[in-house]
Amino acid sequence: MKASELREKYIQYFVNHGHARIKSASLIPDNDPTVLFTTAGMHPLVPYLMGEKHPLGKRLTNVQKCIRTGDIDEVGDNTHCTFFEMLGNWSLGDYFKEESIKMSYEFLVDELKIDKEKIAISVFEGDEDAPRDEVSAKCWKDLGIAADKIFYLPKKHNWWGPAGLTGPCGPDTEIFIITREEDCCDGCSPACNCGKYVEIWNNVFMEYNKTADGKYEPLKQKNVDTGMGLERMLFTLGGYKSVYEVDVFTPVMKLLDKVVNIDKDTTKEKRIIADHIRTATFMLGDEKGITPSNVDQGYILRRLIRRALRFARQIEISPDTLPEISALYIEIYKDAYPEIGENKEKIIDELKKEIDRFDKTLNRGLAEFEKLKQYIQNNRISGKAAFRLYDTFGFPIEITIELAAESGITVDKEGFDACFKEHQQKSQAGSEQRFKGGLADAGEQTAKLHTATHLLLAALKKVLNDNSIYQRGSNITAERLRFDFNFGRPLTEEEIKEVEEQVNSVIKQNLKVTCSEMSVEKAREEGAEGAFGDRYGEVVKVYSIGNFSKEICGGPHATNTKDLGTFKITKEQSSSAGVRRIRAVLE
Ligand code: SER
Repeated sequence: MKASELREKYIQYFVNHGHARIKSASLIPDNDPTVLFTTAGMHPLVPYLMGEKHPLGKRLTNVQKCIRTGDIDEVGDNTHCTFFEMLGNWSLGDYFKEESIKMSYEFLVDELKIDKEKIAISVFEGDEDAPRDEVSAKCWKDLGIAADKIFYLPKKHNWWGPAGLTGPCGPDTEIFIITREEDCCDGCSPACNCGKYVEIWNNVFMEYNKTADGKYEPLKQKNVDTGMGLERMLFTLGGYKSVYEVDVFTPVMKLLDKVVNIDKDTTKEKRIIADHIRTATFMLGDEKGITPSNVDQGYILRRLIRRALRFARQIEISPDTLPEISALYIEIYKDAYPEIGENKEKIIDELKKEIDRFDKTLNRGLAEFEKLKQYIQNNRISGKAAFRLYDTFGFPIEITIELAAESGITVDKEGFDACFKEHQQKSQAGSEQRFKGGLADAGEQTAKLHTATHLLLAALKKVLNDNSIYQRGSNITAERLRFDFNFGRPLTEEEIKEVEEQVNSVIKQNLKVTCSEMSVEKAREEGAEGAFGDRYGEVVKVYSIGNFSKEICGGPHATNTKDLGTFKITKEQSSSAGVRRIRAVLE
């Protein structure tokens, strides 16, 4: 079966059962600081799962684009991908276990014609937070699933959520396809990783809200949240050996087969390239499109593109193949996800730019890495050396760790982080943590104020009509910014008001904050603000905010001015002779 067929069949079935079809939400979550990407169809629906009324009613269905990079190291095997589509249906305080299970069964057996003998089920075995789920087990038995195909498993397997640290969650019942007769061991069950049971669908019965202090409170409204991985389902239905045989990958795998011309098994590398470029295409083409950067989502995107390029080089594929692959995906997905077609130029353009950036230094970095290997002690690369690979050659630390592992070497990650901190950049460790579900920290507020500082400098130059104004000092806490600049007299009240208005009008334009790396010379040529001094030959980061501001800077910054709120100057005073000091806040 083709992806388009399964999408339509699924949606049609649930529409016929009273569900309203909703659009896939953006990959960038709207109101959730605890995760970087949308990881499941329920994610954008959290407010409605918590009780807010959905305009389209109590029964919803959709196909949601999702990203999960937690298993990025597994990509290359038969089943793992960093991007996937999730088919889902929801009951917002409408039907519950019985009806949900019945619809799932019917869809699988009557619509997809799956042999019911091939279906196995798991249900929650119960613990101190919630009782054993006998209701679900009975529903399955009543539909004719044999008792020995129903497994009771603990929270680790049969509990879903919350998506971040807090929020709706509950016991689930998972549906598996039995792929063979033999057990792998005594007590073989869907909890084993032996491959006998392939999970295809997860029905979550959201009855609880996990609070920040780790308690499970009953939700006022009982919901159903189900999710079926589209690619996984097609792979299972088709009886394929790997998910890369699914039709959405076929043209890409064909192209890769054609261009690879080396005498070894390149299956893993080709799959990594196919996966990473697909994910990058969706990130770049998203309605809230992101671009490669050194923080948060942009950093994950950068890592994926750079990793794909490294593997392309490793199997002697031209870097030009990567945008070609992206173009194939755009064709494949543009009907189901119109934004991908609409953003075609941007996707290809940004991809090419990032590839160019890294390709220039990749080979030199690899040579440096080879050199390093000869000099290291205790089979360990120092944090400083890893930082140099990052800073000078653009190697994300994960790539260095991966390269090292391929040679049986470790990397002093803590040492790297320390160097990173020293350079006053927000460590990607921060974003990784957030990605894992940590809460947003004060760093985010600081980043916003930092972005506001850039806007302030640009506005001062304009309002005071003085291009020789530059930064004499800056100090930012989570609460406020303090900015010193050269100017010979106090600002008038009107000027202060005008500066505020300029900054706020830029904030309202929802301008993207982008970061690119370039030589100091190039930065100067482009008119970037910043101390050029004696940094001749160095590669620096330049942050741009639309056409309004361009500064050499280490970051971190907000990704878009729209996140800044309202800018307000709280004080303007003298700092020293010829230097003024402004304090400001974001409200
Ligand atoms: N939220 C559940 C999952 O991700 C079901 O959609 O599996």
